[in-house]
Amino acid sequence: MGFDVGQFSLGLFKQLQVAYPHSLDKAVTKRKAEFLAGRYVAQQALKELCIEVEQIAVGPSRNPLWPTEVVGAITHTHQRAFAAVALKQHIRYLGLDHEIWIESATAKDIKSSLISTTEEDYLNTTQWPFERGLTLLFSAKESLFKALFIEVGRYFDFLDAELQDLCFNTHTFTLKLTTDLTPQLVKGRCFAGRFQYDESSVQTLIAIEP
Ligand SMILES: CC(C)(COP(=O)(O)OP(=O)(O)OC[C@H]1O[C@@H](n2cnc3c(N)ncnc32)[C@H](O)[C@@H]1OP(=O)(O)O)[C@@H](O)C(=O)NCCC(=O)NCCS
Repeated sequence: MGFDVGQFSLGLFKQLQVAYPHSLDKAVTKRKAEFLAGRYVAQQALKELCIEVEQIAVGPSRNPLWPTEVVGAITHTHQRAFAAVALKQHIRYLGLDHEIWIESATAKDIKSSLISTTEEDYLNTTQWPFERGLTLLFSAKESLFKALFIEVGRYFDFLDAELQDLCFNTHTFTLKLTTDLTPQLVKGRCFAGRFQYDESSVQTLIAIEP
């Protein structure tokens, strides 16, 4: 869903039936607008599952607190918000991320905290400019983080997963854990995902069945 930060007002929370968390009291307008847009699309997505909630509360690590039978993920920039939700009986891990393409100079500055040298070498062999490949892989890893967070229960690093496979024809990727995150989420476990993109941004989705 697209939105315009310039049109934001606090009254929209009530109008759109999104609960306002006091943790936003000191936030800038852009942050309030992004939160509102994210929660609004998430609540709309829940309605598609015939689930109405008064609020999707904010968890202790900023993670959305979904209804018990649901998995979900939210992502937003200053202009667009997306949410994905599913019933746990259908999907076990669900992650979604949206990133504006990273500039070439920024990519050089931040690449070492996001990808390994093996991943960097691989991205340099693909048909995409390096900064686009980096954005895609960054987004894929953020999707994986959101998908697994509820089970891992703590932050984990971008180098705790690595690119196993990437196909530009089918718009699919696979990430592999490089470390044991939990007794179930062990080194070597793979997670497949999909991506779509346009001139301004890329979106990634990981949805793993039980
Ligand atoms: C939390 C994080 C994933 C958010 O990503 P982002 O690109 O900054 O922002 P996005 O718009 O895509 O996502 C923001 C939304 O993610 C959700 N989110 C935040 N923390 C979360 C968590 N711990 N678990 C699940 N979802 C979370 C929230 O819904 C948030 O929006 P809200 O605060 O308005 O509710 C990111 O800031 C982060 O900390 N990443 C570091 C850990 C990581 O990704 N490791 C890679 C492992 S392979």
